[in-house]
Amino acid sequence: MLSWDEEVKPTSPAPHAGAARLSPTPAPARAPQVSQAALSSTLADTAIAAPQSASHAPSGTHRIKASDKRIINGQTDVNQLVPFKYKWAWEKYLATCANHWMPQEVNMNRDIALWKDPNGLSEDERRIIKRNLGFFVTADSLAANNIVLGTYRHITAPECRQFLLRQAFEEAIHTHAYQYIVESLGLDESEIFSAYLEVQSIRDKDEFLLPFINAIMDPNFHTGTLETDQTLLKSLIVFACLMEGLFFYVGFTQILALGRQNKMTGAAEQYQYILRDESMHCNFGIDLINQIKLENPQLWTPEFKAEIRGLFEKAVELEYRYAEDTMPRGVLGMNASMFKGYLRYIANRRATQIGLEALFPNEENPFPWMSEMIDLKKERNFFETRVIEYQSGGALSWD
Ligand SMILES: [Fe+2]
Ligand SMILES: [Fe+2]
Repeated sequence: MLSWDEEVKPTSPAPHAGAARLSPTPAPARAPQVSQAALSSTLADTAIAAPQSASHAPSGTHRIKASDKRIINGQTDVNQLVPFKYKWAWEKYLATCANHWMPQEVNMNRDIALWKDPNGLSEDERRIIKRNLGFFVTADSLAANNIVLGTYRHITAPECRQFLLRQAFEEAIHTHAYQYIVESLGLDESEIFSAYLEVQSIRDKDEFLLPFINAIMDPNFHTGTLETDQTLLKSLIVFACLMEGLFFYVGFTQILALGRQNKMTGAAEQYQYILRDESMHCNFGIDLINQIKLENPQLWTPEFKAEIRGLFEKAVELEYRYAEDTMPRGVLGMNASMFKGYLRYIANRRATQIGLEALFPNEENPFPWMSEMIDLKKERNFFETRVIEYQSGGALSWD
């Protein structure tokens, strides 16, 4: 574990000009190198790729056949969305668009009054809120960087790229939502936005994630070998199953538990929408992972699976430590040890969703109401704080 004042560096590969890092001091300006690299990478990615093998070349025409498309290392033109091959990605893109929302549509007046009332919340409840925002205000920026600067350029299926573009915008909305809550409550912005450097339980989670983000953001990183394809797959698994699929869940549960007790209902409403977005991101990521496995079965080796299981175990441990830090005592009818079971339950679900065996057999969900929150249809505005609806939620389904 790194001490407080040590700079966090990715362990492998070596840091590069565009690498994300946690540092108490501002990173030196590196914009010119990053821009140049990004530009050349963009040009390379958007070039009209000619089919390279006879088996991929449609006879007598250069027009795309859906069957030639691949999620990674594809040779078809990434600028041509159709013909569709990965209809599930397109359908998820449509579903996320139908769920559009903006943070300022949620009325925060009750939250503000409660926060300012000296007797409105206990110290433990205030700690939960501040820790929560401290993690999330920067977590979604990491998520956005990972998509925009990492994942996107390695994915050669335009349907999936379309979803990633929407996802990136949603991550911006989430950062906006957390900032909006911080601003509404009049919290110390500097304290909250620096928490990922200053609060060890938050910093530990981000330190775990960064090497996987940096690996695929490296401008010199390209897929196409067993090793680099496994690096990308590992990064996708860490991001979908462990970051969006696990590291968010203590925080989501805590704020939604406050909302269920009629406290901080505006913040809870925002978290409810974010949870639903993240649930879709996680499900998309899992579909993406499984499709890559299907198209590239050679990547799924026993050694690789063992490494992934080790990462799952580490992530559960880190998120549990975060639960202990945010809840030194029982609060809101919950305590840290209940989260041990919950995190194991979620980890089992994520593992089985990508074809691994459950890590902690026979764990049960101590918070069944969370499933109800995820499944909530849009027309049922649980906390009744929202003022605008974009579309009927009747067409949405959340699995
Ligand atoms: Fe997000
Ligand atoms: Fe997300």
